[in-house]
Amino acid sequence: MTITVYVPCDASALSLGADAVARTIEAEAATRTTAVRLVRNGTRGMCWLEPLVEVQTAAGRVAYGPVTAADVPDLFAADFLSGAAHALRHGPVETIPYFNKQNRLTFARVGLTDPRSLDDYLAHGGYRGLRRALELGGAKTVQEVADSGLRGRGGAAFPTGVKWRTVMEQRAPQKYVTCNADEGDSGTFADRMLMEGDPFVLIEGMTIAGMAVGATRGYIYLRVEYPHAYRTLTSAIATAYKRGYLGTGILGSGLAFDLEVRLGAGAYICGEETSMLESLEGKRGEVRFRPPLPAIKGLFGQPTIVNNVISLASVPVILERGAEFYRNFGMGKSQGTIPIQLAGNIKRGGLIESAFGISLQELLYDFGGGSASGRPIRAVQAGGPLGAYIPASQFDTPIDYEAFAGIGALLGHGGLVVFDDTVDMARMARYAMEFCAIESCGKCTPCRIGSTRGVETIDRIMQGVEPERNLALLEELCDTMVQGSLCGLGGMAPFPVQSALKHFPQDFRRGGRA
Ligand SMILES: Cc1cc2nc3c(=O)[nH]c(=O)nc-3n(C[C@H](O)[C@H](O)[C@H](O)COP(=O)(O)O)c2cc1C
Ligand code: SF4
Repeated sequence: MTITVYVPCDASALSLGADAVARTIEAEAATRTTAVRLVRNGTRGMCWLEPLVEVQTAAGRVAYGPVTAADVPDLFAADFLSGAAHALRHGPVETIPYFNKQNRLTFARVGLTDPRSLDDYLAHGGYRGLRRALELGGAKTVQEVADSGLRGRGGAAFPTGVKWRTVMEQRAPQKYVTCNADEGDSGTFADRMLMEGDPFVLIEGMTIAGMAVGATRGYIYLRVEYPHAYRTLTSAIATAYKRGYLGTGILGSGLAFDLEVRLGAGAYICGEETSMLESLEGKRGEVRFRPPLPAIKGLFGQPTIVNNVISLASVPVILERGAEFYRNFGMGKSQGTIPIQLAGNIKRGGLIESAFGISLQELLYDFGGGSASGRPIRAVQAGGPLGAYIPASQFDTPIDYEAFAGIGALLGHGGLVVFDDTVDMARMARYAMEFCAIESCGKCTPCRIGSTRGVETIDRIMQGVEPERNLALLEELCDTMVQGSLCGLGGMAPFPVQSALKHFPQDFRRGGRA
């Protein structure tokens, strides 16, 4: 009898020794009579359990983790291949609370399947969304996406259906679908996990987008720091071409769609959509003036969809199961699900796909288990390096775009970076300004010059030099950057500074720091 064993090939598992675990399982199995079929799956998103090894048994896929190569002989001795007891055993994956309390729609196959296998993708419902989209036709597909309530998961939360309709209504010789896979926000990894764990769902989502708006070419703009995602995506794209899921006559229809991956060179500003388009055109990543919007004049001057990985990867399930099914998750104007990423000083870091409405408290304590240091959590930075610091007194805030705006925060791409009570919030404010100074594209003065002056002003405050005068100056500088910057980098970099000043004023009045 052959037993299937899963060892993740996701970058988080690889960084923790998954390849060595896989090799040791194969070597150990070779010395015994039991035949083992090793499958390299994506991750289930429970990073603190990686490498999480799963064994296919009659009772389902039984999980063991975190497994090191040194644990493997002991696991064999305990007969883990039959799902037997062991100190590292967590039982069937679906019974692990961190996993079974989620609403896995976009990430339904991530960790379940072999990411490079189109057959596995098809066996788990793949390409049903595109088939339905082809039946509906372009206009009704756009309507379905609009009705689902999907808003861009890249950060700005703009309604995806509205963007698609604008592109659909343009007359042009060529239209494009571009996928923003730059994922520059601190503490975020949802795009990477999706691309490494289920690349075909992104390919399908982009193909549906192309069909819906009349675009025949697509580009995935991927950050160069994601080599595993690059290899997985390029392998999946080659398979899709070979099997007739990309190119011409897709699924026997008249649909044509070409797709390729382009690597960015590693600049935060290249995640901003107009900079990304410049970079895709082979130019320096610098922000464009708007209007015109990319939907009207985008890549090479043609109408272009720019969507985040998660937005596009959510489209197949919306088409397959219908707008109403998707819309019924969530709250208010935040409909569907969002992958929250727990990072920083947290005990159980990882990815949680949940319906909107879950509170920060539940995420940090029920899922995350509190801080890794065991000390009280003092603040959480949500929405990347431009997001506000949220104090513990606001942890009852639900994950909802409007509720976050109501407390002056951003949900962004769903990253939460956790800090315990030893954090110095004046230093964190300085870091935000320094980040902006380093990453500014330099096109406008408030951001290019303002961020450098901001660092100098915070330094003076931290040294105790005329603190009240410099605090007033810092407030004024933040206001100028928010009002006068051309794009979100300079326009939002003051948010973490302002939130630190508001919620943690005592950290700015200590003085005496170098
Ligand atoms: C400085 C800056 C960096 C950004 N970085 C990213 C990024 O890494 N990935 C992303 O999807 N969107 C990023 N965005 C948002 C994009 O400009 C754009 O709103 C998004 O790609 C649109 O896709 P969506 O509607 O699916 O979210 C960034 C915006 C700004 C201002
Ligand atoms: S705000 Fe900063 S990053 Fe944005 S256009 Fe101005 S200089 Fe460039």
